[in-house]
Amino acid sequence: MKRSRILGVGRYLPEKVVTNVDLEKLMDTSDEWIRQRTGIEQRRFAAENEGAALMGTKAAEEAIRRAGLKKEDIDFIIFATLSPDYNFPGSGVLVQDMLGIDTIGALDVRNQCTGFLYGLSVADQYIRTETFKHVLVIGSEVHSTGIELATRGRDVAVLFGDGAGAVVVGPVDDEKKGILSIHLHAEGKYAKDLWVEAPGSVYHPRLTHEMLDQGKHYPKMNGRNVFKHAVTRMPEAIMEALNANGYQIPDIDLLVPHQANMRINEYVSGVLGIPPEKVVHNIQKYGNTTAATIPLCLYDALEDGRLKPGALVCVAAFGAGFTWASALIRW
Ligand code: UT7
Repeated sequence: MKRSRILGVGRYLPEKVVTNVDLEKLMDTSDEWIRQRTGIEQRRFAAENEGAALMGTKAAEEAIRRAGLKKEDIDFIIFATLSPDYNFPGSGVLVQDMLGIDTIGALDVRNQCTGFLYGLSVADQYIRTETFKHVLVIGSEVHSTGIELATRGRDVAVLFGDGAGAVVVGPVDDEKKGILSIHLHAEGKYAKDLWVEAPGSVYHPRLTHEMLDQGKHYPKMNGRNVFKHAVTRMPEAIMEALNANGYQIPDIDLLVPHQANMRINEYVSGVLGIPPEKVVHNIQKYGNTTAATIPLCLYDALEDGRLKPGALVCVAAFGAGFTWASALIRW
C-alpha cells in the first residue's frame, strides 16, 4: 500500500491584528492576565466577508503552488472547521467553487481542534488505497464573529483567533517517508464542556430571542476540565504514535502541538522531556486558530527552517468533543 505525504503547505492570515490591549477596551481583562495564563500576545480578526471558505481557498491556492501542482491536479477536498460560513452547506463546496475545480468531491469535517488531524487521516486513507492522488486538507476558522467580545464571554473570547492553513496530500514512493500513522480518539461525555449550544436541532424552534439574550449562541467552556484532560490526553497520544512505530521520545525532531494554551504545551513537552527548541509555537501571534493551527505551525516551521526533509515530526491535538489525536510523520 502506498504511503501518503504532505506535498505542500499554504496559509492565509487576515490582516487585522488584535492585541491583548485592544481586548482590554472591549471587556474586563488585561494583557498581563492573558499572557500569564495562555501565552497569547495577539491574534488576527477577519474582515467583513472574509469567511472560512475564502480564507481556506487562499491557503489552498498557496499549498497547491508550493506542492508544484495545478488546481486541476486536486482530486478531493477535505475542509475542517467549527466556524463554517453557513449552517449548511459545508464550506468545502464553497472552496471547490472558489477554486473553480470542476465537480470533485468536498467533505466537511466537524472535529474542532483535532479537525485537521481527523481530515488528514481521511486523506491518508484515500491516498493509501489509491482512491485519489492529490487531496487538499484545509483547516480554516473565523472565530471573531462567534465569540462574545464582552466581559461575560472573556474566558473564551481572549483565546481564539482567525486564520487558515492547508496542505496537499499525495503519494510517496520512498517507504521510509510520509505519514507513518494517525491515531484518533473521542470522549463524547464531555461534549458540553466546550460547546456552542444554540441554534440546535434539538430545540423547537432552534433559536429563540431568549437564547440570544442568554448568550447560548456563544461558545462556553469548562476551562479547568479542558486543561486537565488536554495535559493527560496529549502525552498519551504522542506516546501512542511513537509506540506504534517503534520510536522513542528522543527520536522526535519536532513536536507540533495544537495551540490552545502555551501552558498546556509547556506541561506536555515538560512531562515527556521534549526540549523547548523541538516544540513549535504560534499561539503568541495567532491565539487558538483551532482547525487551522497545525497547518499554520507546519508553515512557520518550514519558513524558519526547523522542518527539514527527513525530520521525524510528531503532531498532537486536543479539543472540543472531547476529541484528541496524534500523527507521526517522516518529513
Ligand atoms: O482548543 C480548545 C481548548 N481550550 C483549551 O484547551 C483551554 C483550556 N483551559 C485553559 O487554558 C484555562 O482554563 C484558561 C486560560 C481558559 C483559564 O485559566 P484558569 O487559570 O483556569 O482560570 P479560571 O477559569 O480558573 O479563572 C480564574 C479567574 C476567575 O476569576 P476569580 O473567580 O478567580 O475571581 C475568572 O473570572 O480569572 C478570571 N478570568 C479572567 N480575568 C481576566 C477568566 N477569564 C479572564 C480574562 N481576563 N479573559
